[in-house]
Amino acid sequence: MSVLVVGSANTDILVRVRRAPLPGETVLGGDAEVQAGGKGANQAVAAARAGAATAFCGAVGGDTFASVPREALRSAGVDLQHLRELTVPSGIALITISDDGENSITVASGANARLSPEDLPADFSNFNHLLMQQEIPPQTVLAAAQKAKQSGVQVLLNAAPSHEFSNNLWPLLDYLIVNEHELAQLAGTAEGQEESAARSLLERGVGAVIVTLGGRGSLAITPAGLFRQAAHKVVVVDTTGAGDTFCGVLAAWLCGGSDLPEALKAAGVAGALACTKLGAQAAMPTRSEIEGALAG
Ligand code: RIB
Repeated sequence: MSVLVVGSANTDILVRVRRAPLPGETVLGGDAEVQAGGKGANQAVAAARAGAATAFCGAVGGDTFASVPREALRSAGVDLQHLRELTVPSGIALITISDDGENSITVASGANARLSPEDLPADFSNFNHLLMQQEIPPQTVLAAAQKAKQSGVQVLLNAAPSHEFSNNLWPLLDYLIVNEHELAQLAGTAEGQEESAARSLLERGVGAVIVTLGGRGSLAITPAGLFRQAAHKVVVVDTTGAGDTFCGVLAAWLCGGSDLPEALKAAGVAGALACTKLGAQAAMPTRSEIEGALAG
């Protein structure tokens, strides 16, 4: 049983600041930290740490920044035979983290924006679940979902960052994972109407809509009904990568045979644990840490 993640790989440059700068303002922060990131690579590392056999398909550039995400994926045990190296700059994310744990992220996509449908694995039959995000071209996301469905692979899309996508994609999605803002944008509704917004996305052909609600936990809506998962309480240091941890662990638990409520619970606990340390991948819990928190 294995997970294929198709997505972005970045080098994250993190700076702690008392508060995020206003437009046109300069603020002084602490020492910069360089870490592996990118929503795709983060979710692959989260799935691998949660115990799933995980492969990653993405692109890095031909510069020195390529080694940061590549080595982090390798040391997490992720299969890199579908990682492409292109003669363009690697993806870089500039991240400021304020004292309240909130972050602001600017991404220079580099090689991620050039990942094409031709870069996808020729054969999807070795995988059970495909997990994607939206930091790569939409045509590559659509092509991967089509190939997955042809091979009977379950498709999970984390619609982050939020942007419009082809109407052909909706019925290919077994699971759509969104936060409140992404949900409102996709559904064309005001925020705070999660249940009706998620139901409207089911009508477009999605199998299940999963909404992450930060400190309010998460909810899942399927044609069979709705269930909510309470938040696992932690002291928040940095939320960077918490959503990625949620998605990677959700895929890992589903791939391991758990049902959606069980997977949602593990993903919520893992996402909360990821908020207790600085950075994305550096903060992601192992399977035993997730199981320990679930048992406690
Ligand atoms: O979700 C967090 C990630 O978003 C960071 O690691 C950064 O690289 C951006 O892709």
